[in-house]
Amino acid sequence: MTSALFSPYKINGLELANRVVVAPMCQYSASDGMPTDWHITHLGMLANSGASLVVVEATGVERRGRITHGCTGIYSDASEDAFARIVAHCKRIGTAKLGIQLAHAGRKASSARPWEGGLGLKPGEDPWPTIGPSAIAPGAAWPAPRAMDEADMTEVREAFVDAAQRSVRIGFDSIELHMAHGYLMHSFVSPISNKRNDAYGGSLEGRMKFPLEVLRAVRAVVPKGMALGARISSTDWMDGGLTGDDSVAWVAAMKKEGLDFVCVSSGGVTAEVRTPTTPGYNVPIAEQIKRETGIATRVVGLIATPKQAEAIIAEGKADQIALGRAMLEDPHWAWLAAKELGADVARPKQYLRAAPKLWPGASYRDNAA
Ligand SMILES: Cc1cc2nc3c(=O)[nH]c(=O)nc-3n(C[C@H](O)[C@H](O)[C@H](O)COP(=O)(O)O)c2cc1C
Repeated sequence: MTSALFSPYKINGLELANRVVVAPMCQYSASDGMPTDWHITHLGMLANSGASLVVVEATGVERRGRITHGCTGIYSDASEDAFARIVAHCKRIGTAKLGIQLAHAGRKASSARPWEGGLGLKPGEDPWPTIGPSAIAPGAAWPAPRAMDEADMTEVREAFVDAAQRSVRIGFDSIELHMAHGYLMHSFVSPISNKRNDAYGGSLEGRMKFPLEVLRAVRAVVPKGMALGARISSTDWMDGGLTGDDSVAWVAAMKKEGLDFVCVSSGGVTAEVRTPTTPGYNVPIAEQIKRETGIATRVVGLIATPKQAEAIIAEGKADQIALGRAMLEDPHWAWLAAKELGADVARPKQYLRAAPKLWPGASYRDNAA
């Protein structure tokens, strides 16, 4: 039996051993944007998960673009150095390639860490002023952001460019722009959060204008062969919000600007809206985007079992599977998935004796009680 999930895949110049990706996951454990020892451990562990690619958490392109005081940021030389050490470490000890998610939290910035409530920071908690397309708060627990003018847009665009250049220097293999979950780029595209009446609002074309300008500027400084993608909220799950058809147009426009892949997520435009809890809830729109745009399509969201992931790839509904919580629960998820699907994955030599296919006679599970 050949597994589709464990077949190789190539996006632009990025050669990947299989279709399993670790989704970006904030750790809220940085110090003024700088990754710490926690990240060495966390990313080092996931670099040996068997996934072909690990995407580093939403990393703010400017200080005010972090979600919380604990979020990573890539706006300083100190942070660039810290990331460079971690990426070199992961590549030395691990089997996965490394991507980074470049982000700006926009009106959802200045929030508390989830385990401290996750709401907007209150006076006394060192809050900071936020920016967005319109002065519309993401929920009752946040102040309204300041509506951005063109000078703000230039600043943010330049911050994305600077962050992309730092990411290339650090040695990341891929860059993913965060255009999902109600953060700055998504909040421009969604009609729920963008009520502007200048060239950057109104129709979908107007609402896409600023994020497309950011993408164009980033693409211009990222090497041609480097895989550049975006994570999108493919639907707002709200009446009057973004739909799958809007997302097809949105992804097609980004593909024209040189986008290599899309990661299909959803939701997050307001604090109140709840995403579905059905397995693989983003798969139908991912399938539509893949079919109608032809772009390399990654899908995420309640995909947890090897058989479920295998079927999505084998049936051609997506090209890659990103896993979040399943990887936190079992950081060797792909090792056991490969075993179940009759495949195998690269493992560090220190652990080879637990790999039946790579170390003949190591079938300890078959002999265990
Ligand atoms: C702890 C945690 C942190 C997350 N941080 C990010 C993030 O930095 N960027 C992002 O796009 N999504 C983030 N997400 C969402 C996940 O990437 C993923 O889309 C979501 O958890 C659904 O996938 P799952 O069902 O496999 O967990 C986070 C999720 C978790 C559980």
